[in-house]
Amino acid sequence: MAPSRPAFRVLLCDGCCCGTERKHPDVDHAAQRSRLGHAARQGGGSVRTTGCLDRCSESNVVVVRRSDGPTTWLGRVLDQDAERAVATWLAAGADPDAMSDTVRRLALPAPVSNEASTKQATAISAIVGPGGVPR
Ligand code: FES
Repeated sequence: MAPSRPAFRVLLCDGCCCGTERKHPDVDHAAQRSRLGHAARQGGGSVRTTGCLDRCSESNVVVVRRSDGPTTWLGRVLDQDAERAVATWLAAGADPDAMSDTVRRLALPAPVSNEASTKQATAISAIVGPGGVPR
């Protein structure tokens, strides 16, 4: 029997801004990635880290791709309230129709496929498969 696909896939940026204390010294980035990764796995998702997604002004960036739905880009996942809201959403299965107001406020516009940077396209193809950046 083939292993079942995860309900969603999560990319946790650990690039030059999202992954270091240089830009956000008050954030324990490794611990945050660990907590968010745990929550995603609890909700049936798989997790990967990635290098910079060219949205450093919105760091920390988290991308969630549901196998049956849209890709959600989240930014400014920095304080405890933001992290807790994202973790709760991931642990509940990352249903795009069940975002809390806090998670909704963190949502970023997804890059349009023909405007996505090479870094974004490469990272996203790792969770979506070949064919580029989803809408
Ligand atoms: S380091 Fe995360 S978007 Fe640049």
